[in-house]
Amino acid sequence: MTAITGKVGITKRPGELGIHSMDTFNMVVPDLKVAQDFYTSFGLDVREEGNGLGLFTFGSDHRWVSLAEGGRKKLNNLSFAVFEEDFEPIKKRIEEAGVKLMDAPRGWDSNGSWFRDPFGVLIEVKVAEKSSPDEKMDFVTGSVPGGKMGSVMRSKAPKVQPRRLAHVLVFTPSVPEAIAFYSSTLGLRISDRSGDGICFMHGIHGSDHHLIAFAKSSAPGLHHCSWDVGGINEIGMGASQMANKGYQKGWGLGRHVLGSNYFHYVQDPWGSFSEYSADIDYIPVGHEWEAGDYDPEDSLYLWGPDLPKDFVTNYEAEHPDAVTPGKASGAV
Ligand SMILES: [Fe+2]
Repeated sequence: MTAITGKVGITKRPGELGIHSMDTFNMVVPDLKVAQDFYTSFGLDVREEGNGLGLFTFGSDHRWVSLAEGGRKKLNNLSFAVFEEDFEPIKKRIEEAGVKLMDAPRGWDSNGSWFRDPFGVLIEVKVAEKSSPDEKMDFVTGSVPGGKMGSVMRSKAPKVQPRRLAHVLVFTPSVPEAIAFYSSTLGLRISDRSGDGICFMHGIHGSDHHLIAFAKSSAPGLHHCSWDVGGINEIGMGASQMANKGYQKGWGLGRHVLGSNYFHYVQDPWGSFSEYSADIDYIPVGHEWEAGDYDPEDSLYLWGPDLPKDFVTNYEAEHPDAVTPGKASGAV
């Protein structure tokens, strides 16, 4: 397995304002014990913090996700990070865009700026270390020269441990409005889109092809969080690792078109997904990515199995198409 982090230095696009990372997000889940089992099985370092859980990657003290317990699954907050010198200017720009800043929610220890996006999602912008990679991360094929054995024994397969949170895909009632809002406030840029159905956006200071994506739905919600691993073998082993723990439902192995990453999605007990992802396209600082607008057929995957029928169901909408699935509610 490759190193936990791929940090080689801090990259910054001079003279332009924008967030550099999606620092963390907060989600309410119905049962923290079930969440602990799911994310521990996935290969994350799950720590008890107060009344909730923190999701870390092993070898790092960066909290990628915080979880609280509540009635039903709900994406609560997205936190983005800026360089210190950009904090006041970006705050000014947010206010000039007509967005009303608010106090940090009660009980949250934060020096950041807080506001809601047009659909009610709670957003924080704060000063924090750049957690998005500064260059494209290692992709390990594991190929060996002739005369050597490439695989390890199944009985000795190492546990897959993702290196970092790569991105989130969130549902939104209006993709064009989300694009307008997140570009004018946070400086995100379009990487690629498929009409008004889905849009992938990147940060300007060196970023994966997308650190956030927006997909059309009737309401906000989390579709998936994506976790970077070092190669296809780790994606496959991760899928097996989860299946062995009872989490067989999902989608993969496959390869996306927009972003180009290899993937396997595992469905969590609340209907959203955690993605093992490898080799996503990278947009270096200073590079002007040529954004495309693609037909739906070309926007999702190059190859892979058929989509699970509830893959794009928003279980956070008031009236989702189906009931929230349980851990053992049958194979996709
Ligand atoms: Fe993804």
